[in-house]
Amino acid sequence: MRTDGYFIAFEGGDGAGKSTQVGRLADALRAVGREVVVTRQPGGTALGRSLRDLVLHGASMAPRAEVLLFAADKAQHVAEVVRPALAAGQVVVTDRYTDSSVAYQGAARDLGADAVHALQMWAVEDLVPDLTVVIDLPEGVGRARRGAVHDRLESEEDGFHASVRAHFVAMARGNPERYLLIDGLQTPEAIHASVAARLRSAGVLP
Ligand code: TMP
Repeated sequence: MRTDGYFIAFEGGDGAGKSTQVGRLADALRAVGREVVVTRQPGGTALGRSLRDLVLHGASMAPRAEVLLFAADKAQHVAEVVRPALAAGQVVVTDRYTDSSVAYQGAARDLGADAVHALQMWAVEDLVPDLTVVIDLPEGVGRARRGAVHDRLESEEDGFHASVRAHFVAMARGNPERYLLIDGLQTPEAIHASVAARLRSAGVLP
């Protein structure tokens, strides 16, 4: 079994059930003795929490300002939390990472997926997850699960979220070695089982 640092990101639309899966996976990894750091973007650091408040609940902002705030959160998160944990041999499980920006700002806000990807990679100094789990859910189901609108991004119309979804699926299908694409309509147990199976084959779970 692997005992070195391992980096897992969960991605998907709002309401896809990522946070539940992050918690379940962390429990499974801890149960086999791995040290796990659970974190999220935006908001995984003190600076990130201020940025999260600004970008999700602040005044309206230009799309380029929005993408730069998300990029600043990621730069801080990787420098302060993710790289040190990986260097210490821990497993890092993050609720969202760079692909969220590529999908939300690059595709749905129309800033260009390639440009936003390049910006994100600069911010995180090219740190790519070992595995990215994309939980795919029809945008209407995500909206129903979310209930009342909570933040600037969630309150975007269904067309915006459809574009986010299509981009996540395309990224996952384009690189099956690095992504695991999961049908988010399955039960939480079935989704966790797929993630665990993939991590067993990677030697991260026994
Ligand atoms: P959360 O509610 O899953 O924590 O995510 C916050 C919102 O921010 C969610 O609607 C997705 C969005 N987001 C972006 O638009 N770009 C990003 O880079 C990240 C990390 C999140």
